[in-house]
Amino acid sequence: MTENTSNWRQKILYKPETDDRSRMRAVANNLILHLHPTKVPAPALRWTYTWGLGGLSALTATLLVITGILLMFRYDASIERAYTSIQYMETQVLFGSFVRGLHHWSANLLVITAFLHMIRVFLTGGFKLGRGNNWLVGLFLLALVLAFNFTGYLLPWDQLAFWAITVGTSLLSYVPVVGTAVSNFLLGGPEVGQATLRNFYAIHVAVLPVLLALFMSYHFWKVRKDGGISQPIRDKNERVERLTTIPHLVQIEFAAAAVLITALTLWVIFVPAPLEALADPSHPPNPAKAAWYFMGLQELLLHMHPLAAMALPGIIVAGFILIPWLDKQDDNIGLYFRSRKGKQMALVGAIWALALIPVLVIADELWLDLPAMFPTWPTLISTGLLPLLLTLAALIAIYLIFREFGHANPSEALVGLFIFLIVSFILLTIVGIFFRGANMALVWPV
Ligand code: HEM
Repeated sequence: MTENTSNWRQKILYKPETDDRSRMRAVANNLILHLHPTKVPAPALRWTYTWGLGGLSALTATLLVITGILLMFRYDASIERAYTSIQYMETQVLFGSFVRGLHHWSANLLVITAFLHMIRVFLTGGFKLGRGNNWLVGLFLLALVLAFNFTGYLLPWDQLAFWAITVGTSLLSYVPVVGTAVSNFLLGGPEVGQATLRNFYAIHVAVLPVLLALFMSYHFWKVRKDGGISQPIRDKNERVERLTTIPHLVQIEFAAAAVLITALTLWVIFVPAPLEALADPSHPPNPAKAAWYFMGLQELLLHMHPLAAMALPGIIVAGFILIPWLDKQDDNIGLYFRSRKGKQMALVGAIWALALIPVLVIADELWLDLPAMFPTWPTLISTGLLPLLLTLAALIAIYLIFREFGHANPSEALVGLFIFLIVSFILLTIVGIFFRGANMALVWPV
């Protein structure tokens, strides 16, 4: 090697720390240490504890904000021009299709990562030992994510958008007392039209981002304030190794971010965001389905009176809100499923849901006809109150069976019930998406 080449190698590989470089490094480190403590317990770095789901949700939300701002430069929120502005973006704007694809798929991914993060937090008892408030903030964040998706769904103004929102908002009018008023406020009138597009756009690009930024910041701050992420309670004499955030935690986060961005980019290249024909309010598609993450609710509507189909998820969400107060046993924090027994209860809950839900869906489709069985009862009772009360009784029975016959403590029995509910919800969503054809009849997917 000549002296000349070796000088170049030196210059490239060992760039001296200039003042600028060290200042930038200091700023970056400072930013990282605002988000993280300087040291973290080594077990908290175990990938299989959090699966990085909170961080990946935050990254996906950031991608959404960046791509969303880019889309705003070309999108036109009027029913005459919204669809063509999207078409223009897809075909005429450099990287337009890519940016739209990234926005579309990141939005779908965020629903999944935030939902899985919630399941992780529940299963490891991440809401215990003073973390109850952050659990509530998390639930609100999940609601915000769904609201983002719901309002964004309408913006392309194609058949998919128009009818999914028409179906979705029609659910609102079943909410007692305030339902119709809320629906009219959101739609800007009795049906989906120009006022709806304007309202949804304003909510999507102005109201929700501000709320998301505020509550996400609070969420992160609270994780730090609560002493970092949950960990099992250890013996006072047990010494836990603590590693510096930089580089140990940061290198894991960067690796996860790189994998996510690469996978998303490849996905977006091969699977473009859908765009159907221009919205036609006089020609509903058959079946007219809500967005995929609301298909579980739409499926429930096929089996119960709308009031019951709204009340049941309402009661379950209320139960989720109360979880930190329902499970007050703190000594099992930081352990997946709480204990061996909790794991068994989760397995039983999952098996029961897998066995019960398909049977009930098929039975209701083929044989069960509640109004015919109780012809003198009003349908609100025969298809509403009756199935609602039976479902709630079944949920209580499942909990009591776990307690009495499974010999589970309240915390472990709740894990079994939680898994039963989550698996049931996922199954209803799968049935709604894949197994419902024309007129929402049960079909085998082809
Ligand atoms: C936009 C959505 C969300 C983002 C960006 C987010 C982000 C995060 C991050 C980065 C953490 C640190 C640890 C980890 O990665 O797991 C965390 C922890 C936590 N999150 Fe979330 N989160 C979101 C939604 C939720 C939801 C839906 C819930 C529950 C209903 C929730 C409840 C919590 C709780 C209680 C903790 C502390 C957990 C522990 O100490 O183990 N978050 N979140």
